[in-house]
Amino acid sequence: MSARRARPRRRVYFFGNGRAAGRASMRATLGGKGANLAEMTRLGIPVPPGFTISTDACAEYETDRRRLSGALKDEVRAHLRKVERLMGARFGDPDEPLLVSVRSGAPVSMPGMMDTILNLGLTAESVGGLARVATARFAFDSYRRFIQMYGDVVLGIGSAPFEDRLDDAKRSARKALDTDLSADELGALVDDFLEIVRERAGRPFPQDPEEQLWGAIGAVFRSWNNERAVTYRRIHGIDGSLGTAVNIQAMVFGNMGEDCATGVAFTRDPSTGEKVFFGEYLTNAQGEDVVAGLRTPQPINRAGQRAEERQLPTLEEEMPGAYRELVRIQRRLEKHYRDMQDIEFTIQRGRLWMLQTRTGKRTVSAAVKIAVDMARERPERLASIRDELLAEQRSQYWEITDRGVNFAYLPPDRRAKLAEFFAWFGSRVPPPRVS
Ligand SMILES: Nc1ncnc2c1ncn2[C@@H]1O[C@H](COP(=O)(O)OP(=O)(O)OP(=O)(O)O)[C@@H](O)[C@H]1O
Ligand SMILES: [Mg+2]
Repeated sequence: MSARRARPRRRVYFFGNGRAAGRASMRATLGGKGANLAEMTRLGIPVPPGFTISTDACAEYETDRRRLSGALKDEVRAHLRKVERLMGARFGDPDEPLLVSVRSGAPVSMPGMMDTILNLGLTAESVGGLARVATARFAFDSYRRFIQMYGDVVLGIGSAPFEDRLDDAKRSARKALDTDLSADELGALVDDFLEIVRERAGRPFPQDPEEQLWGAIGAVFRSWNNERAVTYRRIHGIDGSLGTAVNIQAMVFGNMGEDCATGVAFTRDPSTGEKVFFGEYLTNAQGEDVVAGLRTPQPINRAGQRAEERQLPTLEEEMPGAYRELVRIQRRLEKHYRDMQDIEFTIQRGRLWMLQTRTGKRTVSAAVKIAVDMARERPERLASIRDELLAEQRSQYWEITDRGVNFAYLPPDRRAKLAEFFAWFGSRVPPPRVS
């Protein structure tokens, strides 16, 4: 008989309001994203409340022939009630609906390989409620994004039919950007999107928020085995049996108006390793807009801007209060995790929220520069930096030999930098044993 994983005792882990059931060390169970959302919450950093469904529940879903167990649904409902209390809004409420994101998150970083759905919980009824508490433009903008993501990820009809329709709408309204579309134009787009779903999925868009939620959780579990993810795992030698966690988190909105924004940043420049806070953002935008390339993102500050960005206003200038808090938080995160971080944030009506932190990917020369700088900043970390560099050399163009470091394949500038580092480094830690 095949070894069966025992049924998990607990499937859901809460985070919010300074408390979390999980922590950074629990990435096997919570995935990297969930573990770090819990850790940031514990640190007192502003993170929208939510909960993480464990990777064990993903395995259980596969064993149960892709059915969500009653036990899981009960735990999810109980945790949703907790989020509702913190947010002062009810899931499915027609007047002031709580909306959530349903986000994938694997134990090993697989950037952008799996799926996420935003603004879940919106229905034909509650879109009106949302329009009354905010604006009609915002409500329709959120709804059309949700229908598209749900249609793509859960109903499997892809995003092309929606994008084509959006392009048509912009063309006939003679508008270049999504943000130029009026409330009425976005409302008409929503009707078209609902029609696309009816046609292509052969059934109407689900109008019951719980049904939406179960659909999204199942789809995120299944996204562990989508083609992109499987190929990525094969290339990077990642174990296919791990499974993904699912993060369900109260939405915060970067698309409510001009005092709202969303962005991504690195605590240091990922291409040079320079110690400058570096990132991009868009005002009145949501989630993926910054990387989608539809509008030109702005640099968050002058220090990290590229030459061609000199004309653009920065976050530092446009929202100085939120920017200052972001600077404080990124410093704190880098110090806490002891490595360069890649972060996501959203500003809703001037208020900053953190949505993700993870170890930032970097070029080889940035890796060396960052290791040198960090070792200088924190000499007590030398031993672990040595281990990291040893681990890194496997894939890079240098090797540590019994006579020192062999830089044979490195270009001269990096050779010089590394030589400087190892000379300094070698006088402080015993040389590693070479096998
Ligand atoms: N609750 C939320 N409120 C506002 N924005 C959110 C929320 N949840 C996710 N987002 C944003 O939506 C986008 C997609 O989310 P997510 O981080 O889950 O996936 P991703 O960035 O595409 O891939 P990866 O898994 O590599 O992080 C991100 O920009 C994220 O900041
Ligand atoms: Mg992300």
